[in-house]
Amino acid sequence: MLKKTKSGDIVLNSTSIVVLYNIDGDMVRVAAILLDLVNSFLLVRLFRKCYLFNSDGGFILEENEETRIKRSDFPSGFLFGTGTSAYQVEGAYLEDAKSLSNWDVFCHSLGCGENGENGDIADDHYHMFLKDIELMHSLGIQAYRFSVSWARIHPRGRFGKVNPAGIMFYNKIIDNLILKGIEPFVTIHHVEFPQELEDIYGSWLNPEMQEEFIYFADACFKSFGDRVKYWITINEPLLLAEMAYELGVFPPFRCSGPFGNCLDGNSDPKQGGSIGLTVNSKMYEPLTNSELDYQAARRAFVFQSGWTLDPLIFGDYPEEVKEYLGYELPSFSHDEKNFMMNSIDFIGINHYSTTYAKDCTNSSCSATENCAIQGFVGTVGERDGVLIGEHTAVEGSYVVPRGMEEIVNLIKIRYNNKPMFITENGYSSPDVHEQRVDELINDVKRIEYHASYLASLAKSIREGADVRGYFAWSFMDSYEWLKGYNVRYGLHYVDRQTLTRTPKLSAKWYKNFLTNNTDLVNMEASREKLHTNA
Ligand code: FCB
Repeated sequence: MLKKTKSGDIVLNSTSIVVLYNIDGDMVRVAAILLDLVNSFLLVRLFRKCYLFNSDGGFILEENEETRIKRSDFPSGFLFGTGTSAYQVEGAYLEDAKSLSNWDVFCHSLGCGENGENGDIADDHYHMFLKDIELMHSLGIQAYRFSVSWARIHPRGRFGKVNPAGIMFYNKIIDNLILKGIEPFVTIHHVEFPQELEDIYGSWLNPEMQEEFIYFADACFKSFGDRVKYWITINEPLLLAEMAYELGVFPPFRCSGPFGNCLDGNSDPKQGGSIGLTVNSKMYEPLTNSELDYQAARRAFVFQSGWTLDPLIFGDYPEEVKEYLGYELPSFSHDEKNFMMNSIDFIGINHYSTTYAKDCTNSSCSATENCAIQGFVGTVGERDGVLIGEHTAVEGSYVVPRGMEEIVNLIKIRYNNKPMFITENGYSSPDVHEQRVDELINDVKRIEYHASYLASLAKSIREGADVRGYFAWSFMDSYEWLKGYNVRYGLHYVDRQTLTRTPKLSAKWYKNFLTNNTDLVNMEASREKLHTNA
């Protein structure tokens, strides 16, 4: 029984639980104890209002403006999913004829994650994928974004043969997803590739790597293209270039150097797949009202998203990027421009955060900001002593839900409302080391994050943005590149000893959000629409 008291408290009476809950206060006041843990209810404070869940992901008691979001706020063909990538979850790093990837070698020789952690075992998804797909099914998602390990499929690139065991592994994943009604979204290259290609060619610094990529992508299209209808060629090429070739913190640790035209993707037209790629798309707001900061924010967007997307849609680099980096950028021939122009069917947006941008052409900035490759833009999280949003686990990354609407609108306008997917959006809390397991599982902050970012996304869709899907990063806690296992984005908690997966409160919330609605999701319709409009 639910009852509202005069003071605004909600009193819930049942045989199993009696809880006093203050709706409007900042603090949750639990005035009674759980009497029956088996059938327990979970009461969760969300912003200043209450969300109430039963043990199956329950029902919503009350909600507020920022988080009032329903499945039916999105078009019926809209795909909701979760994502992972091969190195971060698979493990089995040398099983069934897989070769060493550049990340295996990096982690083994230099120790890549904090505390020397690596992805040798990761979440052992290689052996546990069936259970994982079961869990995905029980979440009610309609799509799963995962990457294929290059070193598992082509252990030696063009120097060897395709590895049947690798093909078989992904066939099993794809078939089982489809059996459960889950659409596979495949990223072909997500950060790692066979070490041999580094040793022989120097990987992406050599145009031969493009041929390798074509060879690999072709094998994927041929083997899986009859069932996979959504492809992402490369995950976050700009971030990869920055980490691996500018900052030198990801293998192959280059600190400079040109990177060539690494984008291509032709599927067999008969297969009818759609191909896009994902860009890391932070939102930038001007630090002050000055015209210079406005321009800096604009430049930051163009340097980040436009640098990758403009060539694929307009056939050339953005003018602003050419202005600052012209002497270093390769120039495209007429044929190349034509080849690239409009060569993607959709834009994948990986969006997590927003920061302030400040101009560095006229004011003082740090040496790393005040440089051409960053467009002479500095970024800060604070204005007049006030943070733009709460901190997350990643330095310089803040919770700013409005940024979702803003970045989608910017991309919509610049690229003439090309179909978009939010291919990554997720939260990891800043207190990475100190949290207890029960705190990690009762991840209210993650719910707040997803609910408010989804509400912001729904706004942009109402304003006309052609967004076709949303993938929560990540399906489960996994290996987080240089950070190891302490930075957790998962909707499922993974016990590092037993590798047992436990749905977090956010998984229950997502399930509730996805299933509490009568809208039927029509994947076929969404796919057809993509083709008609692309
Ligand atoms: C993105 C990566 C993804 C994951 C998230 C947190 O930049 O694409 O693999 O690490 O960040």
